[in-house]
Amino acid sequence: MNNCNLIKKNWNGKNLITVIDQQTDSHILIAIHTTQNGRSAGGLRMKRYDSREAALSDVLNLSAAMTQKFAIANMKWGGAKSVIYLTRDLDENERKQLLIRFGLILKNLQGRYYVGPDVGTSSEDMNIIYETGKPYVFSRTIEAGGAGSSSIPTAYGVFAGIKTTCKFIFGTDQLKGRSILIQGLGSVGQCLQNLLEQENAIIYYTETNQEIIDQVSSKGINAHFIHPEKIYDREYDIFSPCAHGGILNKNSIQQLKCKGIVGAANNQLHIEEDADFLKLRGILYAPDYVVNLGGAMGITSIEAEGFTEIEIIEKIQSTIMETLEEVYITANADDTNTVKAALKIAQKRLKYTIDF
Ligand code: PHE
Repeated sequence: MNNCNLIKKNWNGKNLITVIDQQTDSHILIAIHTTQNGRSAGGLRMKRYDSREAALSDVLNLSAAMTQKFAIANMKWGGAKSVIYLTRDLDENERKQLLIRFGLILKNLQGRYYVGPDVGTSSEDMNIIYETGKPYVFSRTIEAGGAGSSSIPTAYGVFAGIKTTCKFIFGTDQLKGRSILIQGLGSVGQCLQNLLEQENAIIYYTETNQEIIDQVSSKGINAHFIHPEKIYDREYDIFSPCAHGGILNKNSIQQLKCKGIVGAANNQLHIEEDADFLKLRGILYAPDYVVNLGGAMGITSIEAEGFTEIEIIEKIQSTIMETLEEVYITANADDTNTVKAALKIAQKRLKYTIDF
């Protein structure tokens, strides 16, 4: 399933810190891919993996994606990521103590790595990490003095990505009557649904978490549920993966009936070559880190640079619209896939400082 030996060999990052947390049998992995002015940033993913190899390959891949994300966003931050690989279920107190110990590691890194939330962690968790890891923590709750959840700026960015992609495919960015399937109606997915509803799009969603499905029906959210096994039965204008990575693989691409893919999930492609397969199938793919940069860009700009929320949402949307257009035009001009086109642009924008 995972090609992690290959990835490990190819990972050209700066530091990998691994700590085994004896008290909880968890593995803490921090991958600093690049630094800019001695700093890097990236989210903390906390979950059960099938193996340590799978956790390691995830953290390495995600750290490299953060470098590209900040480069594309023209932001002077290096890319990093951390993973806490849980090998067993933890009770609330054990989890809290683990986050406090994570904060101590962060403190020892003295700003080389700044953490933010990601899959399996929240702004409340950032509050806990801050107790020991201060000040190297992004996205604490607003009550605690942070900028709050990164879901809202992320969703605004994905929304802008959907509009740009529709303009490219259909010649108009009007979303009225466009059919869109959102995979995963978590906090980003719900916010995106809301934005799409205001434009009168026809919204479908698929979800595996029964709690969220119940919540959606009790809240009367305007979206038609599609069973995860039935997502390939229908045609959609846009498919929006907002759950986990690796969902675009040979098998799913073969079956998907959509014209474009624009979603918030990180590392959506199972392997790089899947981008060629999408092109071959005539599906326009918006590279994940281009359209999901809103969270990291929004939070770091508000907390480290003093932008207001309104200012930064506008900046996120214009950055994504302009960049994505450049990606699509470059891909056409070079007759290449959109991932290669995005990489070319990211490399052009990457401004290395003399950093070690
Ligand atoms: N989860 C965010 C991402 O993948 C990480 C992040 C959030 C980084 C907030 C910094 C601040 O982009």
